[in-house]
Amino acid sequence: MKLVFLGPPGAGKGTQAAFIAEAAKIPTISTGAMLREAIANKTELGKTAEAYTSKGELVPDEVVIGIVKDRLTEADCKNGYILDGFPRTVAQAQALDDMLPDAIDVALSLEVPDEAIIERLTGRRECKNCKATFHIKNNPSAKGDVCDKCGGELIQRADDSLETIQNRMSVYHAQTEPIKDYYKDCGKLKCVNGVGSVEEIKAALFSALGLSEAL
Ligand code: AP5
Repeated sequence: MKLVFLGPPGAGKGTQAAFIAEAAKIPTISTGAMLREAIANKTELGKTAEAYTSKGELVPDEVVIGIVKDRLTEADCKNGYILDGFPRTVAQAQALDDMLPDAIDVALSLEVPDEAIIERLTGRRECKNCKATFHIKNNPSAKGDVCDKCGGELIQRADDSLETIQNRMSVYHAQTEPIKDYYKDCGKLKCVNGVGSVEEIKAALFSALGLSEAL
């Protein structure tokens, strides 16, 4: 399965991609996570990216297209993948189709209204070690202030400040939302309601993808 996950910042793409990846035994390729790792490692890519991510702006197309192109050639992508956070502009979607004409089977859009996003993102915590995602109220770690998967420290992402969240939402509506029409025109778009409990959304997504827990 070759899947693109669409949806606003904080829609729950990363949370749900982890379930789908485990069930379908395919990797999740998150451009946001790749950029954060480069920023943490202070690489040249990281220095370039941080100037944009810290303000909630998109990193230039040519930069992200390059890193995705390299990542898709790795062996674990042979049987499929989940793209989380890429493409994020129509130019990126076109570049993906140009580099791999059968790059995508289905584009899943997780639909969450703006009102729900701020609460989700201001309450998000991420494990510094394994990058698992939690929410202080909606999806807390069973171990309180540490990750219940690996015991790592839970931290707040640098771009989860209120001001940056608001800019990310504006950028999403202006530059990323038009991708839905791009995939609709290709007959690949499926929209799933992203409001409800994590388990309810998981069930809706698995049903839309024809996946079962047993896979
Ligand atoms: P990226 O990391 O992709 O961030 P994003 O799209 O803003 O998405 P998030 O990771 O914030 O949200 P999510 O939908 O994964 O939600 P999550 O599951 O964590 O990108 C970051 C930055 O990198 C961008 O701003 C840009 O600068 C740059 N970038 C990345 N890709 C790029 C590209 N292709 N081109 C250019 N620039 C790029 O859930 C959020 C919270 O809600 C969590 O706390 C979770 O526990 C909670 N939650 C989850 N599900 C539910 C539920 N059902 N109910 C209540 N709470 C829930």
